[in-house]
Amino acid sequence: MDDNILDKNLKPDENQIEESLRPEYLNQYIGQHTLKDNLNVFIEAAKIRGEALDHVIFHGPPGLGKTTLSNIIANELGVNIRTTSGPAIERAGDLAAVLSSLNTGDVLFIDEIHRLPRSVEEILYSAMEDFFIDVIIGKGDEARSIRIDLPPFTLVGATTRFGSLSAPLRDRFGVQLRLEYYDLESLITIVNRTADIFEVVIDKESAVELARRSRGTPRIANRLLRRVRDFSIVKKEESISLETTNHALKVLEVDALGLDPVDHKIMRTIIDVYSGGPVGLETVAVSIGEEVITLLDVYEPYLIQQGFLERTQRGRKATAKSYDYFGHKDNNALF
Ligand SMILES: Nc1ncnc2c1ncn2[C@@H]1O[C@H](COP(=O)(O)OP(=O)(O)O)[C@@H](O)[C@H]1O
Ligand SMILES: [Mg+2]
Repeated sequence: MDDNILDKNLKPDENQIEESLRPEYLNQYIGQHTLKDNLNVFIEAAKIRGEALDHVIFHGPPGLGKTTLSNIIANELGVNIRTTSGPAIERAGDLAAVLSSLNTGDVLFIDEIHRLPRSVEEILYSAMEDFFIDVIIGKGDEARSIRIDLPPFTLVGATTRFGSLSAPLRDRFGVQLRLEYYDLESLITIVNRTADIFEVVIDKESAVELARRSRGTPRIANRLLRRVRDFSIVKKEESISLETTNHALKVLEVDALGLDPVDHKIMRTIIDVYSGGPVGLETVAVSIGEEVITLLDVYEPYLIQQGFLERTQRGRKATAKSYDYFGHKDNNALF
């Protein structure tokens, strides 16, 4: 497989496609009902009060819609959004420059905010709390601190790793929202919506099958649809059939539950090599040649959510359910 279809992170060429698929307003955003209802109240209240919306943090696995929601906030408020990311801001001066370019009520979106350098993060505290920053100008004896006032703005942060955020930063977000994996019904709606935008017709059962096998994740649903569409085009189908969908997913090595070869490797390693665990995640990562971060952010959350993997004090453990599913000699049969 040249590229991993379940890779939860964005690939460069996908950027534009994702843009075209992003719902722009809250009422176009599918699923996440509780989160949406809450966010809607906060946005409406901010509009009525005529004040900037309180700072918001979205957290949850990749591909669930954090970036999309950040843009929706700006659209709903009718303000500008400036977008940057934790790793892109290396020095305090970079952040100071971004902050001083904001207008009243604007949204500053910092993606992967857990990756902000600590020295930069500290500048955010006063910016978020009292809308000012202290900047050091000059060096040595000449150095002095000047205070820059900022207009009221809304910081919107997104992170896959809420736990890695420092407490002082976390506490400064008045609105903390966690994205959940999507239910089947929402994913079916998303698949059909994307098919409409791509101007392709998809059989009802195919949409259900894609939804079922996209690990509760809109990004994966959209990605699978694009790949399945290719197979369907080559077969000159008028509408994407279930047969083609199943065939494509087999070729793409997506199993009946949406799990990929890496998921299988993880579970087989824990079951076969470590007798079901408990075993440290680092050990599993080394055994299968994947990065710990990838396992933590991308693979583990879904395996846990599906009830295959358990996180204990002493390490990861395979559940009884995982023995039923993965504990066979020939796992290839599952694809
Ligand atoms: N609720 C939703 N309804 C429709 N499409 C969605 C929804 N959530 C996410 N998407 C689509 O899934 C893709 C990934 O969403 P994104 O916001 O980039 O995820 P994240 O930032 O959490 O990684 C985007 O193309 C987006 O349009
Ligand atoms: Mg994102």
